[in-house]
Amino acid sequence: MTEVIAGDGAALSEELQAMRAALFPPVAQKTLRSFSSLESAKLIGIADAYLRQLSLNGKGPQPAVTPNGRRSYTLDQINEIRAVLDENSKGRRYVPRRRGDEHCQVMAVVNFKGGSGKTTTAAHLAQYLALQGYRVLAVDLDPQASLTALHGYQPEYDVAANETMYAAIRYDDERRPMSDVIKPSYIPGLDLVPGNLELMEYEHETPRALAERSSEPFFGRVATALGTVSDNYDVMVLDCPPQLGYLTLGALCASTGLLITAHPQMLDIMSMCQFLLMASDLLGVVQDSGGDLDYDFIRYVVTRFEPQDAPQTQMVGFMRSLFRERVLTNTMLKSTAISDAGLSKQTLYEVGRENFSKNTYDRAVESLDGVNSEIEGLIRQAWGRAA
Ligand SMILES: Nc1ncnc2c1ncn2[C@@H]1O[C@H](COP(=O)(O)OP(=O)(O)OP(=O)(O)O)[C@@H](O)[C@H]1O
Ligand SMILES: [Mg+2]
Repeated sequence: MTEVIAGDGAALSEELQAMRAALFPPVAQKTLRSFSSLESAKLIGIADAYLRQLSLNGKGPQPAVTPNGRRSYTLDQINEIRAVLDENSKGRRYVPRRRGDEHCQVMAVVNFKGGSGKTTTAAHLAQYLALQGYRVLAVDLDPQASLTALHGYQPEYDVAANETMYAAIRYDDERRPMSDVIKPSYIPGLDLVPGNLELMEYEHETPRALAERSSEPFFGRVATALGTVSDNYDVMVLDCPPQLGYLTLGALCASTGLLITAHPQMLDIMSMCQFLLMASDLLGVVQDSGGDLDYDFIRYVVTRFEPQDAPQTQMVGFMRSLFRERVLTNTMLKSTAISDAGLSKQTLYEVGRENFSKNTYDRAVESLDGVNSEIEGLIRQAWGRAA
């Protein structure tokens, strides 16, 4: 029996590798598209006419111009313009990075319901924040490593042994500094800690370490490792596996904000109920053992929402009546633009509008921007800024 499984696994792996090679360019070629002047002006938070004037006046970088006169900017250029604007601005800040005693925000995206939209939420949030000009670290804590794949690294081929978060939290003397496992992404301002199956080791090794009681307990290790690099980032986004194991508990203890994804259907909500009850039990034990659980905010994110579906709308209403302001006002709509982009290992922020029907694309982006800007507002509030 095991040979059958092993054989099928090997055959599938080979086929997938061939499909990937044919469909997706290697990592080195994955680059971020540039942004139209309208998109760029929106990202910076100024009028398109003003952005044009800046370029005409020779202030900041010059955009690429197509033969038909369309201007476009790279994200590096957009960041340069933000800095130029800050030099001359008295009040308003265009570079949003944290300053003074504003603490690094760590967002854990959790729920043990598989497919509830954790990775989609985490990836779009991390990229959205990087596009806004924050310094972001995305951490893949799921052995399935979908977040890693979405960022152009193939978990089984591009991520070697001891190159995941496990390396920075393991109990033995193979442990590595956190900074060793951070990889740049092709998006300026966004770094990635990739994942792969090796992360499972943490679930196996922790019981042994607990019995020996010799090292820092499991729940503090993610926080400790992330703490060593937090000076370099404004926000960290942790994509958790669909289970309440030691890694997820470590993420829950490391985070300053919790995002619980929920697809508004009865079975999913029942599963989420189990998750909440079990998580509170486990976290109670962790807290009694000295674990730190102090959140700036906890929010439910409604994912893959179909507003025209009456039972789903009812379920969202039910959640709002129970959890009130803890359910984000904006919802992530179900959209073929999001799932289609996912098929080619991209987020909707990476693919251009030209790849979809305009309505489909605009509706999806509007919904994602709504969710992400609301979360950005919570982060800014936690820093004591106006949302
Ligand atoms: N808003 C959306 N519209 C359409 N499809 C979506 C949307 N959000 C997620 N999906 C799709 O649903 C599937 C599951 O989403 P995702 O991988 O984000 O869930 P997950 O909670 O991370 O899953 P897992 O528990 O396996 O890690 C993916 O194929 C994704 O492309
Ligand atoms: Mg996932």
